[in-house]
Amino acid sequence: MKKLFIKTYGCQMNVYDSDRMVDALAPSGYEATSDIDEADLVLLNTCHIREKAAEKVYSELGRLRIMREKKEKLGGKVMIGIAGCVAQAEGEEIVRRAPVVDLVFGPQSYHRLPELLEQAHTKKVVETDFPAEDKFEHLPKPKRETTIARGLTSFLTVQEGCDKFCSFCVVPYTRGAEVSRPIAQIIAEAENLVDAGVREITLLGQNVNAYHGLDANGDSAGLAHLLYKLADIKGLDRLRYTTSHPRDMDDALIKAHGELDMLMPYLHLPVQSGSDKILKSMNRQHTVEHYMALLDRIRSSRPDIALSGDFIVGFPGETEADFEGTMQLVRDVEYAQAYSFKYSTRPGTPGATMDNQVPEEVKSERLQRLQTLLNHQQTEFNKSRIGTTMKVLFEKTGRDPGQIVGRSPYLQPVQVDADPSHIGTIRDVFIDSVGKFSLFGKIVINN
Ligand code: 5AD
Ligand code: SF4
Repeated sequence: MKKLFIKTYGCQMNVYDSDRMVDALAPSGYEATSDIDEADLVLLNTCHIREKAAEKVYSELGRLRIMREKKEKLGGKVMIGIAGCVAQAEGEEIVRRAPVVDLVFGPQSYHRLPELLEQAHTKKVVETDFPAEDKFEHLPKPKRETTIARGLTSFLTVQEGCDKFCSFCVVPYTRGAEVSRPIAQIIAEAENLVDAGVREITLLGQNVNAYHGLDANGDSAGLAHLLYKLADIKGLDRLRYTTSHPRDMDDALIKAHGELDMLMPYLHLPVQSGSDKILKSMNRQHTVEHYMALLDRIRSSRPDIALSGDFIVGFPGETEADFEGTMQLVRDVEYAQAYSFKYSTRPGTPGATMDNQVPEEVKSERLQRLQTLLNHQQTEFNKSRIGTTMKVLFEKTGRDPGQIVGRSPYLQPVQVDADPSHIGTIRDVFIDSVGKFSLFGKIVINN
C-alpha cells in the first residue's frame, strides 16, 4: 500500500471532501496516514475564504519543499497536490509560485483524482474546470471498515456552491453556482453510514438551507423534505445541518424544527452584521429586523433551540455606530457559540474595491470587543446547563482513565466517569459542572 497524507484547512465541507479523496484513491492502492514523513502523496485541501487561509498554504508549501528535497537525497519520492478553493481560485499561479507542486485540482474534480494523479507522474497537472458530470455519482462508495473507523458521527454534503453573492465572499466564485444532490442519492449514502454504525449525520452545504434536490417523482424538494426522509432511517438518532442563510429559512424548515425531535435544537444561522447599512452593502438581502423576527418564529417552533452565528467586523464603511449595532444584536440574541472574523479583502469580490476600507487596528480592536462578548455568552450558555439533564451521544474514551466523552444536543463536549460500554449509546446525563471547553456530569440511571 502507498501512503496518503491529507492536511485539511477551512470548513467542514473540506473535511467531508478529504474523506472522499481518501475513498477515491483507495482503488489506486493508497491508504491514509497521519504521519507526513511516510507519505508517498501529500495533499493540501485548501481554503480561500480569508487572505490568511491562502497564505498558510504557501508557507506550508515552503516546508514541503524542504521535506521533499531531504527525501529525494535519500532516494525517496513524494508527490504534492493542492486541492480545495485555493486550487480553484489560483490554478496555474500555484505551480508558478511553488514549482514543488505536481498537481492542482478544484473541488469539482475529486472523482477524477486517480486519473489526474497518473498524469501528474509525467507533467504538471492543473484541473479547475466545472465538469458537466455529477462527481458524487462517480465517487466510490466508502468501504464499510473506513466508515466504521471514522466514528459515530459523520458529515454528508448535500449541496454545494452558492448563488447569494454576499459582497465579501469568494464562495460563489470558487465553489460555483448552487447544486443540490438528488434525495435518493443522499438517502443511499446516509443508509450506508448508518449501516456502518453512524448515529448522527450533519448535512453540509455552503448554503444548505437553499437545498432543492430532486425527489423520486423528479420534483424539486427543499431541505425540510429531505430531513423528514432522513428521519425515517432506522438506527439514525440525530440530524444537524450547516450552514444556512436567513433568507432561505422557509416555513417548512421552521416547522421541521418543531416536529422532528432528532433534528438537534442548535442552529448555525450567520447574520454577519447588526447594521442595516452594512447588511445592504454586504448584499445580504435581509435586515436586522428580518433576522430578529425570523429567530422569534424559529424559537416559537422549537423553544429550546440555541443559536450559533458568524460575524464580520470592519467591512468597508463600518462606523463605530454600525459596529455598536452588531454588539447590540449579539446582546439581544444571546448566542450559545459564534465565529467572528476581521473583514479580509478578497480580490474579485465587490467588497475589495469599495471605498472606506477600515484600518487594520480598528478591525482588531472591534474584533476583540465582539469576541469578549461572544465568549462571555458562550460561558453563560454552558453554565446555564448546570443542574439540567441532557442527552449525550458518547463517542470515545476521554484523556483521563475511566472517562468517556460525548456531545450534547448543543455540540458541547460532555465528559463523564463511566464504563466504555456506554460508547455508541445516547444517555441522559446530569450536568454538575463546566470547565473551559467541556461540561462534566453523571449518567442518570433510568428505571
Ligand atoms: N472576510 C472575513 N470573513 C469572511 N467570511 C467570508 N468571507 C469573508 C471575508 N472576506 C466569513 C463569513 C462566513 C464565514 C464562513 O466566513 O462570516 O459566514
Ligand atoms: Fe458566501 Fe454569502 Fe454564499 Fe455564505 S451566503 S457562501 S457568505 S456568498
